[in-house]
Amino acid sequence: MDQLIIRGGAPLDGEVAISGAKNAALPILAAALLAEQPVVIDNLPALNDITTSVDLLEALGAHCGWDSSHALRVDAGRADKVVAPYELVVKMRASILVLGPLLARHGRAEVSFPGGCAIGSRPVDLHLRGLEMMGAVIEIDGGYIKATVPAGRLHGSHILMDVVSVGATENLMMAAALASGQTVIENAAREPEIVDLANCLNAWGAKVSGAGSNQLVIDGVAALTGGRYTVMPDRIETGTFLAAAMATRGRVRTTHTDPTTLEAVLIKMQEAGAEVTIGADWIELDSRGRELRAVDFRTAPYPAFPTDMQSQLMAVNATATGSAMIHETIFENRLMQAQELNRMGAKITVEGHTALVKGVAQLRGAPVRASDLRASAGLVIAALAASGETVVDRVYHIDRGYERIEEKLQGLGATISRRHTAAPPTD
Ligand code: UD1
Repeated sequence: MDQLIIRGGAPLDGEVAISGAKNAALPILAAALLAEQPVVIDNLPALNDITTSVDLLEALGAHCGWDSSHALRVDAGRADKVVAPYELVVKMRASILVLGPLLARHGRAEVSFPGGCAIGSRPVDLHLRGLEMMGAVIEIDGGYIKATVPAGRLHGSHILMDVVSVGATENLMMAAALASGQTVIENAAREPEIVDLANCLNAWGAKVSGAGSNQLVIDGVAALTGGRYTVMPDRIETGTFLAAAMATRGRVRTTHTDPTTLEAVLIKMQEAGAEVTIGADWIELDSRGRELRAVDFRTAPYPAFPTDMQSQLMAVNATATGSAMIHETIFENRLMQAQELNRMGAKITVEGHTALVKGVAQLRGAPVRASDLRASAGLVIAALAASGETVVDRVYHIDRGYERIEEKLQGLGATISRRHTAAPPTD
């Protein structure tokens, strides 16, 4: 169990290179199972979730090898195993993303049923219903989703999703890539990571159109050939560093990023009083010497404000002038960082899915606990702004989504270090 020790209070200043997007990389790694020829995936972030995905691909019989620290070669040509075991799915819910590719390629899959997690119950009914509409027969047995395709090959279908789901859209898009005939997915998620997956599938020989709109059309092909693909930059990592610049009243330029994927967040940052400048592949945020105002916002599917940036902007609001309401509409239990922020002197009250944040003049360091990946990002941002020392416990959450976080923050002038502790988790 690692801890991050942060001595806050100094403005961040400098430039930071953004890594590849975890949430684009995970479905793209699953998509490698569809290809009969080897694929090379570039710009993979060095994260625990990526390592777990590689372990999963290998458990499914694919051969994986690193060409460099961020480029993975996957050969699933002779991959013939169809069981995604509990030990890996329990580490990472996104393992469910192999269900569509396995069914499309082999007509059979057994994937451990993902449980709930800290941020809510997170069902997978939309994934299963869509696959059933494409001809799969699914039962839950012994904690596993056991799926077969009696006809041998999935068939195209017209699928309307009643809830916008990123993961279900991805799973069904991958399944439809190798199905017979045309699949139309209505009310599809529009996230940039969906577009990245569609671009990747098309680069490997699929026929997907409409990505980025709410209607996806996929014409199934007999096989995917393989090829090379570069994962998009991580928009949430980008937003996290910009939020850290705000909370510390500093200036940060994020490079190797894509400003077009972060519009809703940048609008809120400007509304709060930060100066934001963008170039083709960089964003700079300057809040030096500025008084920032707390801003209201509501999370919703893309292109609206992302739930994955909610805790970071809550931390910024906690240090701003005035008060603001935050509505979380995607996950049931995603305001958990509020209690920990209050231990640092923040004034946040939570009722249901809404948080009222009253800004305070100064947060103070305290020992705090990360409950999930994005909640921990909010705590780190608050710690960077706070006076004195903060110890953030359960850093394994943050390591799932942020590559070399302490190194990157040190490069911006933060006083942050990592401590290895032997103590086991206490819950
Ligand atoms: C993905 C992201 C996660 C992000 C989330 C929302 C990855 C690996 N993770 O998660 O970081 O916070 O999108 O932008 O890309 N739902 C159902 N039934 C289903 C599936 C989902 O009811 O079958 C509900 C969920 O409970 C949730 C909502 O739909 O309330 C959105 O979830 P979804 O978009 O599926 O999130 P993930 O793909 O799990």
